[in-house]
Amino acid sequence: MSDALVIAIIAIGVLAAAGVFAVAFRRPTKDDWEANAPAGARKADKGAIEVSVPEPAAETADGASDPTPLSGVAVITQDTVAAPAEVADDEVSPAEIVYEETPADEQAVTRRNFLKKATFTTFFVWLATMGAGYLSFMWPKVKGGFGADIDAGDATEILSQVLQADGSVTPLFIPEGRAYVIPLTDEQLAASEFEDTTVASGLVALFQTCVHLGCRVPWCSSSQGFECPCHGSKYTSAGEYFAGPAPRNLDRFIVSVNDDNRLIISTGSIVATPRAQAKGVEYPQGPSCI
Ligand code: FES
Repeated sequence: MSDALVIAIIAIGVLAAAGVFAVAFRRPTKDDWEANAPAGARKADKGAIEVSVPEPAAETADGASDPTPLSGVAVITQDTVAAPAEVADDEVSPAEIVYEETPADEQAVTRRNFLKKATFTTFFVWLATMGAGYLSFMWPKVKGGFGADIDAGDATEILSQVLQADGSVTPLFIPEGRAYVIPLTDEQLAASEFEDTTVASGLVALFQTCVHLGCRVPWCSSSQGFECPCHGSKYTSAGEYFAGPAPRNLDRFIVSVNDDNRLIISTGSIVATPRAQAKGVEYPQGPSCI
């Protein structure tokens, strides 16, 4: 599964989940009677009881006066209570709203239940998709591609291609393995710190990535070495550290030659080695490229 496809699937899953959540949770709840009530019932409810504070009573002819309420104390009488708002025949008062329990078999097909199930289904599908995407990234590739054993070609042909008659080197780049194949003579091997597993039939496969901060390291034909344009790290043609901020040699892959004389690069395992003290290859052999 390609990176772009996984990202697209995850994005679609997130958008679908967000959409379903938005639709599901913007609906009023069952307990929210005001949102669920008909417009007429809400209007009737606006006729709230009003409370009036009467003026102090006037003195009577005999000098007595009606009991006057204390200042700030409201007296609510039958007359001061506003009559309940008239409810039109076609309107329904809140008291008349009756909620009936929906039978279980009918609940299963309500829109609300459908949306709930759709929400959870979408969420779990999205979760499964993400899980599958992560697994595909982590799962070791057993067939082709970087991470698998790469058939670089006939070992004898490759050797004649990368080692020139004048002794100079022209690395063969294997895009599928992200590797440079370079030659290494027996003398160079003896003088270097290479491990046997990283040499087969006089060939070595170097990982293309600079061990400093990960730039792809290009080959410099004039100096006969790898020179990183990012921060100036330099390596011999065999990937041995020569200069710059790189902390170690270029990484290598384990290589082998099978019964059919094919060079097999095992890109599933990278061999990292410290900066070479003894170098098997001379560098530089000419002007630098950076
Ligand atoms: S990435 Fe190559 S020197 Fe920094």
